Amino acid sequence: MSTTPTTSTTPVRPVVARTRADLAAALATPAAGRAPRAVVMTMGALHEGHELLLRAARDRVGPAGAVVATIFVNPLQFGPSEDLDRYPRTFEADVTRCAAAGVDVVFAPAASEMYPQGQPTVTVDPGQLGGELEGAVRPGHFSGVLTVVAKLLHLTAPELAFFGEKDYQQLVLIRRMVAALDFPVTVVGVPTVRDPDGLALSSRNRYLDPQQRALAAAIPRAIAAGVAAAAAGDGAQGVEAAATAVLQAAGGIVVDYVQVRGVDLGPAPAVGEGRLVVAARVGATRLLDNASVDLGPPRPGRPGRTGSGRTDRLVQET
Ligand code: PAF
Repeated sequence: MSTTPTTSTTPVRPVVARTRADLAAALATPAAGRAPRAVVMTMGALHEGHELLLRAARDRVGPAGAVVATIFVNPLQFGPSEDLDRYPRTFEADVTRCAAAGVDVVFAPAASEMYPQGQPTVTVDPGQLGGELEGAVRPGHFSGVLTVVAKLLHLTAPELAFFGEKDYQQLVLIRRMVAALDFPVTVVGVPTVRDPDGLALSSRNRYLDPQQRALAAAIPRAIAAGVAAAAAGDGAQGVEAAATAVLQAAGGIVVDYVQVRGVDLGPAPAVGEGRLVVAARVGATRLLDNASVDLGPPRPGRPGRTGSGRTDRLVQET
């Protein structure tokens, strides 16, 4: 057995910038001005899922690059009846996590710094997809998300921006905005981090009491049932039915939607890769999950099926 002592390095506390001027000054220093620069945008209450994003950013830029994390609970993406005031704020613990993940700069502005005029009159329109799925339940949410993401991209000027696949619709819309408005940034999607029972990590999980937390495990089970149904060749409707059945059998879960769509969240394809997206409420807490589903090649005697009443593109039987 090796007796070589292991060296432990104390994580370096990142520079914390509260204003645009502080941020610009920090990004002009040799330590944080290095290229490439990656940004990870968060609303704080950081958990292991965020840490994976931060570490992925650090790995990608390497020791020569710089990582900026933003911590900002963006009022623009919360509806009037949503949990803006209740949203967890754990700033010191967040900075400690950022340090452990090798972040160079934390940008944590106040709302008045981001929106000095109050409610902005110019915002980003997310297009039709912004009014579907999450957008149908949370009007204005994605306009708020894209507006703050656009501002933070300008302020942090990164080459790379990392977002989690857990908020899949957000990721798709950010990619669309970046392409449509020619932002000079590469968007990197990072797979969802899960608890041992499969529940996707989310800052909102801390709202669940133990009974609700146990119930919430039905959501990843529903996703798994959907993935299995796809593998069995059941098509999009079968996938949706299998996932919905698991949620209904759990009892006490309110299903907002269970849909199979294309990877770009357009209509579900009859064959090939789709995305199963689920939103469900456990008590007052809305939880999201999603996974890739392989709708497979068409099988003899089994037409490809699409779900959710969207335009079917049935595969011709061969
Ligand atoms: O995913 C989030 O935490 C937020 O929507 C984001 C991207 C930081 C914008 O406020």
